[in-house]
Amino acid sequence: MLELYDKTKTLEMRKKLIGQSCRLFFSEDPIKIVRARGQYLYDENGVEYLDCISNVQHVGHCHPLVTKAAAAQMELLNANSRFLHDNIVHYATRLAATLPPKLSVFYFVNSGSEANDLALRLARQHTQNEDVVVLDHAYHGHLTSLIDISPYKFRKLGRQKEWVHVAPLPDTYRGEFRETHPDPAQAYADTVKEVIDQVHSKGRKVAAFFAESLPSVGGQIIMPYGYCSKVAEYVHAVGGVYVADEVQTGFGRVGSHYWAFQLQGEAFCPDIVTMGKPMGNGHPLACVVTTAEIAKAFTDNGVEYFNTFGGNPVSCAVGLAVLDVIEKENLMANALRVGGHLKELLTELQSRHAMMGDVRGVGLFLGFELVKDQTERTPATEEAAHMVKKERQICVSTDGPWESVVKFKPPMCFSMVDAERVVGNIDEILFHEVTVIKSTSCRSRNIW
Ligand SMILES: Cc1ncc(COP(=O)(O)O)c(C=O)c1O
Repeated sequence: MLELYDKTKTLEMRKKLIGQSCRLFFSEDPIKIVRARGQYLYDENGVEYLDCISNVQHVGHCHPLVTKAAAAQMELLNANSRFLHDNIVHYATRLAATLPPKLSVFYFVNSGSEANDLALRLARQHTQNEDVVVLDHAYHGHLTSLIDISPYKFRKLGRQKEWVHVAPLPDTYRGEFRETHPDPAQAYADTVKEVIDQVHSKGRKVAAFFAESLPSVGGQIIMPYGYCSKVAEYVHAVGGVYVADEVQTGFGRVGSHYWAFQLQGEAFCPDIVTMGKPMGNGHPLACVVTTAEIAKAFTDNGVEYFNTFGGNPVSCAVGLAVLDVIEKENLMANALRVGGHLKELLTELQSRHAMMGDVRGVGLFLGFELVKDQTERTPATEEAAHMVKKERQICVSTDGPWESVVKFKPPMCFSMVDAERVVGNIDEILFHEVTVIKSTSCRSRNIW
């Protein structure tokens, strides 16, 4: 048995041994979580925390069906995907059933970053072009290639590669074209077209447009309906492909559909979809799915794609168990019902608190934006950070370009009672504790 350290010792050793760029939640006084179940986390003293942020533990922390499936397969066999095994084909078949028929070829990997990196390779191989258009504030992963296409990161580093081009976030609350615009989908899609035209005017060519189906780091943004189809049309016209990053948004989180890109209607289908986080409920499992045509171009380059751990029998058993739980426990219906209730309760708060600027989202992908004033919509960054109230034992995170969006992406078993509890707390905090702070200096990401 490993020695159990007290919290102070764990923190001290972590500081010494682990790179300090790997940050902790509640960095001033972190919580030490020793076990979890469903949507609840427990610290070393048995104190319970309501988890509104773990979209990875999609069907609930430590779901018994998932842990049993992992243990059973682990006892039997875990080998790499160069050996024939049924799990990988069973799993690909089940995933294919959730996707449009055009998306039919799968590559299994270990993280969202690996998935996006592979998507980039597929796009470039297929198009023979190099450049990428991304949305402002996007984050697509931690590999070098992905920091390059993540404005959220490369802006902090002060470098932008010549092959990367940034289009505005289609944000109808704070962007250039707002909710009163007659056709924000067309207007924002046209901004992508302008970027593409600029790329061409420099003699360069676009391999891919990369976007989350609902930009999360950008602040839980809901793309205007029709935007993705129009962008795909512009990207295809110049020989590029559309990559939908569903690493945060997939697997039924939006409730009405399995994939968030499907919110854009049946006419829209990306050329490549990447998935990760919720896929293995905490087990490192991620995937890229694409068309037969793109996959063929990748095969035709003659270079084997080998991923040591990707698609192994244990990962696939875990993935299959996650799909089973989503279905058996009607978690998509739960996301619709509970998410809808949570959104309604948050919307009610708007009439009582002037700081509640915008409430948005679908299913259990929700957020509300704090503003200093309703007219200018000045982001209330410090106020959002001030909401950090760990003693209330509710974990929520802030995000968006100004860290002014409080967001919810809880395990999909989140309940009506949880929703009511969390909104009751927000109401109290806004009523008693948070008033507009004059200075607007930005604080880093926080949870409360
Ligand atoms: C939208 C999106 N894409 C990709 C990634 C990278 O995934 P991973 O951390 O599994 O490499 C993340 C991680 O936060 C993400 O939010």
